[in-house]
Amino acid sequence: MTQLWPVLLALALPAAATSNCAKACDALASALPDLVIFPNSPAYNSHNNYWSARQAELFPACFVAPNTAQDVAKAVKILTSQNAPFTVKAGGHTAFEGGSIIQDGVTLDLANLNTITVSADRKTVSRSNPLGLAVVGGRSSTVGVSGLTLGGGISYFSGTKGWACDNVRNYEVMLSSGQIADASPRVNRDLYWALRGGGGSNFGIVTRFDLVSFDQGDLWASQRIYSGALNKTLISLMHGLLVEGLAADPAAHTYFVMTNAPELGGYVALSDQFHATHSDLVFPPAVFAGFHDAALPTLVNHTRLSNVSTLSRDIEQAGGKRQTWWDTTVAATATPDLLLDIVPLFEELVARLFAAAAADNSTVSPYLIYQAISSNILEAMRVNGGNALGLKPEDGPVMIVQLTVEWSSAALDEVVETGLKELIGKVDALAASRAAGSKNGYIYMNYAGKTQDVYAGYGQENQARLRRVASKYDSRGKFRKLWKGYFKL
Ligand SMILES: Cc1cc2nc3c(=O)[nH]c(=O)nc-3n(C[C@H](O)[C@H](O)[C@H](O)COP(=O)(O)OP(=O)(O)OC[C@H]3O[C@@H](n4cnc5c(N)ncnc54)[C@H](O)[C@@H]3O)c2cc1C
Ligand SMILES: *[C@@H]1O[C@H](CO)[C@@H](O)[C@H](O)[C@H]1NC(C)=O
Ligand SMILES: *[C@@H]1O[C@H](CO)[C@@H](O)[C@H](O)[C@H]1NC(C)=O
Ligand SMILES: *[C@@H]1O[C@H](CO)[C@@H](O)[C@H](O)[C@H]1NC(C)=O
Ligand SMILES: *[C@@H]1O[C@H](CO)[C@@H](O)[C@H](O)[C@H]1NC(C)=O
Repeated sequence: MTQLWPVLLALALPAAATSNCAKACDALASALPDLVIFPNSPAYNSHNNYWSARQAELFPACFVAPNTAQDVAKAVKILTSQNAPFTVKAGGHTAFEGGSIIQDGVTLDLANLNTITVSADRKTVSRSNPLGLAVVGGRSSTVGVSGLTLGGGISYFSGTKGWACDNVRNYEVMLSSGQIADASPRVNRDLYWALRGGGGSNFGIVTRFDLVSFDQGDLWASQRIYSGALNKTLISLMHGLLVEGLAADPAAHTYFVMTNAPELGGYVALSDQFHATHSDLVFPPAVFAGFHDAALPTLVNHTRLSNVSTLSRDIEQAGGKRQTWWDTTVAATATPDLLLDIVPLFEELVARLFAAAAADNSTVSPYLIYQAISSNILEAMRVNGGNALGLKPEDGPVMIVQLTVEWSSAALDEVVETGLKELIGKVDALAASRAAGSKNGYIYMNYAGKTQDVYAGYGQENQARLRRVASKYDSRGKFRKLWKGYFKL
């Protein structure tokens, strides 16, 4: 336990803010009886349940669990009038500490707020399944729809429909004034634009998302694990999908992962593939045929037809470990060389982290992940005037280069964070040294490290526009000042 203290001390708020929060919690408790949860209670422990152990070791002065938008309005009015620092939790899947929890502050936990709606015409829907309809949501069943959609949201269906944020018809948003606003292509269009990928914490608390839905049967899905020795062939195939294959068959979706798994004998490469319309289990969809060549032996070939809810459970990653994510984006080059040259850089990181874990007698699992934003996705993102991400069809296609590390001991926090920061810097530098335009620099918010400058990656123009929207809807700067955690403009 002792090793946690430096973390907690570094994050603790100044004494004045702490007492604001104690006062605010009392005021909240009288305004919202039964909805405020104080420490040392079983309910507090259940709200303090986060996917990443780095979050769960912070302790708010209280949690507030609103049931309705009116409850949120009351809470916001108290927090802003008392200048009490707070944050907002939805699914609680942020990796870094303080993403959706706040030491000594107030954490609004939206778990009881039914933020997703089903409309009578069945074209706007709640969640993936009960009605046999699908939405462009995340690929994991427990990840919150809110956080994922506010930052972008990569889905099985992005090839035809863009990211989750491109499929919101209307946001109902609690502004810092305590007033509720709608944001859609018809009203508050600037706010609507900003919320599509610009995150929540600079603008407002979204109390309802109306999502576009569509009919969806089973998907073809194939998870294939190969020896890492095949990385050159596999990354070349992935490059082919990025520049050509995925755009030619937008019903396809895929990502590629490398890791060193001692229990599997060292480096392995994983290709996860999905197809929204293919239903033949004997032959894979043509777009993925290269990966299914008999000359490429697999350690695992898990190929099946499955509905979205089953697939989402399969993709789940258990919580409770320490986690971090970092990412950047590189443009597609004519050859796969850039993507191949990242592999030895990743090997250096793995060696460094394994050495640190061995010295500490703890465990660490690093992953290198490639996720394509092919030209069809960039096109689909243009719906409703485009989103806030700053990704333009003329810059594409591009590949997100993502690093994810899961580890067990706080003693490794520093070496992990430093190692990832350096590696992302090297990837950007490598891209910049290649053919003009190879460096893209977009940083996907939902995979970003705590200290990454996410909004700079959206481009100067979008960053400036987002700032204008934030100061219009949060004119007194209350959310800017009091809403802690995640990324600020
Ligand atoms: C196992 C796993 C699988 C994942 N799969 C995918 C995937 O398939 N595709 C993908 O794109 N990403 C994926 N992610 C990343 C995911 O998008 C982010 O972790 C996202 O932040 C999770 O949202 P959340 O609501 O669970 O998190 P939280 O930590 O609760 O929230 C994230 C941020 O959003 C803010 N926020 C949340 N709700 C609201 C709201 N209603 N109004 C205003 N602000 C709000 C919070 O304050 C916080 O700053 C995955 C993550 C995990 C751990
Ligand atoms: C990647 O493939 C090359 C050969 O093509 C091999 O030398 C290298 O060891 C592989 N890297 C990993 C991490 O497996
Ligand atoms: C993997 O399994 C699927 C479904 O059974 C099959 O279509 C594919 O050819 C298999 N590939 C290999 C190389 O085993
Ligand atoms: C999804 O598939 C699983 C497993 O076959 C099944 O139990 C479940 O009922 C299906 N869900 C829907 C909504 O079809
Ligand atoms: C290392 O960790 C393992 C598993 O936690 C434990 O069983 C073992 O005793 C530890 N060894 C040392 C030298 O601390």
